[in-house]
Amino acid sequence: MCGIIGYTGHRPAVPVVVEGLRRLEYRGYDSAGVAYVQRGELHITRALGKLSALEDKLAQSPVTMATTAMGHTRWATHGVPAERNSHPHASNSGNIAIVHNGIIENYQQIKDDLLSKGYVFHSETDTEVLVNLIEECQKTEPDLLQAFAAALRQAHGAYAVCLMSKDEPNTLYAARMSAPLIFGIGTGENFIASDIPAFLPYTRKVLFLEDGEIVRATATSYAIMRLEDLSPVSRTVQTIQWDMQAAQKGGYRHFMLKEIFEQPRVLRDGLTGRINGENNSIALAELDGQPVPERLHIVACGTSYHSGLWARHLLESWAGVPTQVEIASEFRYRDHLLLGKNDMVLVISQSGETADTLAALRIAREQGVPVLGLCNVVGSSIAREASAVFYTQAGPEISVASTKAMCSQMLALALIALYWGRRQQRLSPDEVSAHIRQLDALPAALEAALPAMHERARELSRRYAQARNFFYLGRGLCYALALEGALKLKELSYIHAEGYASGEMKHGPIALIDPSFPTFALALDDNLFPKVRSNIVEVQARQGKVIALTNPGAALDVDDIWEIPALPAPFSSFMALPALQLFSYETADYLGKDVDQPRNLAKSVTVE
Ligand code: F6R
Repeated sequence: MCGIIGYTGHRPAVPVVVEGLRRLEYRGYDSAGVAYVQRGELHITRALGKLSALEDKLAQSPVTMATTAMGHTRWATHGVPAERNSHPHASNSGNIAIVHNGIIENYQQIKDDLLSKGYVFHSETDTEVLVNLIEECQKTEPDLLQAFAAALRQAHGAYAVCLMSKDEPNTLYAARMSAPLIFGIGTGENFIASDIPAFLPYTRKVLFLEDGEIVRATATSYAIMRLEDLSPVSRTVQTIQWDMQAAQKGGYRHFMLKEIFEQPRVLRDGLTGRINGENNSIALAELDGQPVPERLHIVACGTSYHSGLWARHLLESWAGVPTQVEIASEFRYRDHLLLGKNDMVLVISQSGETADTLAALRIAREQGVPVLGLCNVVGSSIAREASAVFYTQAGPEISVASTKAMCSQMLALALIALYWGRRQQRLSPDEVSAHIRQLDALPAALEAALPAMHERARELSRRYAQARNFFYLGRGLCYALALEGALKLKELSYIHAEGYASGEMKHGPIALIDPSFPTFALALDDNLFPKVRSNIVEVQARQGKVIALTNPGAALDVDDIWEIPALPAPFSSFMALPALQLFSYETADYLGKDVDQPRNLAKSVTVE
């Protein structure tokens, strides 16, 4: 969590840094701040709240022509959102300052030691402890690089940190341990940031820093070293293919709406090169040469976890692979019965940086179990540490609430199930062909359906926006979608919503139903439809209002029918998912909520 950026070059640095922070705001927006050196003094400006508050403050300060600066956008961990806890944090002498993403786990111990040496603290953060530890190390290691490294060697936990000193106004230092940090190489300018979009307008040339590495950069030079002994590291420069267009709103009111409407494109891209609609073949180069696992353990968080729950049905029925799905924060603290190389752990993560999912990956690898990473962000930690990676190719997802990423994950997982099913000869060539034909037709079908779906979502959102509670019910594949629908509604509109397996309602939750507690039922035309219909009737018998997301011709008598085009299961899920997303989007927007940046959330959850 938190976004950091450092710039050193030939331009006025503060506007570059603020602009970069805007593209990192998805990582947190509790407060923001910048630091630069001018006339031998370290200047720090910080403001509580969104970046615009910092911009207002900077507009009232004298303009600086400093060509080196660093900035931070915060998602609070240690210390409440407050200006005193905002970054950058300066050392007691005011000589050095840092910005930090992560958590220093032994900060209290270090703080006690520093307190006993007379240091004073003005914040509750672990970051202020770290910057003073660096200052303390300078007493025995006057060289800043040496002191920085010495301090970091004492710090346990996760960090991406950038450091500036008033004595070296045009130099940036940075280091990484279990938190993302990318170095951007420009012409006569260099960047350091938590994510690539921060500096994408200036350069596409990047170096991905690894854990335990430290970098020293000026406008025209850089050196990467190992933290343990400061020995040099050589790293190949990579060129990023995204353009900034992909990271802009493209005429939509919100990134979320744009990303929902991008899903047909996401499906097309995800299928390109993987299925051949002419001869109905499937090719997944990422999985060639690897055995089909005997057992699969899917581990993920949030929406990515819901993708895993959804895919379990296909992995078991198409591929015949027994599959468990678990939340990463639970998986990592359990004793596992992983059975070595015949098991496989599949970690799913849009960002590729989710701390709990990364920890689960490392546990599996330590136990010698192959790990397949399903990631969107190229070069992310999970993508690099997994034994093999399958990219979902959704493009940058800026809205904090995940939408197109789930669509791309479901597609990738369906392709994997199909590919393994064919290799296991569980699916006949005719079945594989039929599924590939359906997949091939999916992008166009969704594209055609989205405008009407959006309109219906808008109508229904107006009718139900005053509800304080919602149930989302579904069975089978639609149970995973019900969980996702409820998550989207609560995180965007702050309406309490629970996703439930509809057959489980009568075991307790149905007690909550009354005329003010509506239910959103997923009643698609599949083999479970008759069961779901019975569950809907049970809700109605308790005077509960029902919206039913269903297909044309369904025999249902509910308060509001929402028909979406019929497709055979499991492909109908790709129609239902955007409907759920649009309903939440429209409800939240109607209620005046901040759709792209809901309160208390961050896009990339790099703390546990
Ligand atoms: C919900 C949402 C989160 C993420 C979760 C995992 O809209 O975005 O629940 O799905 O934080 O993130 P990744 O997939 O990046 O590991």
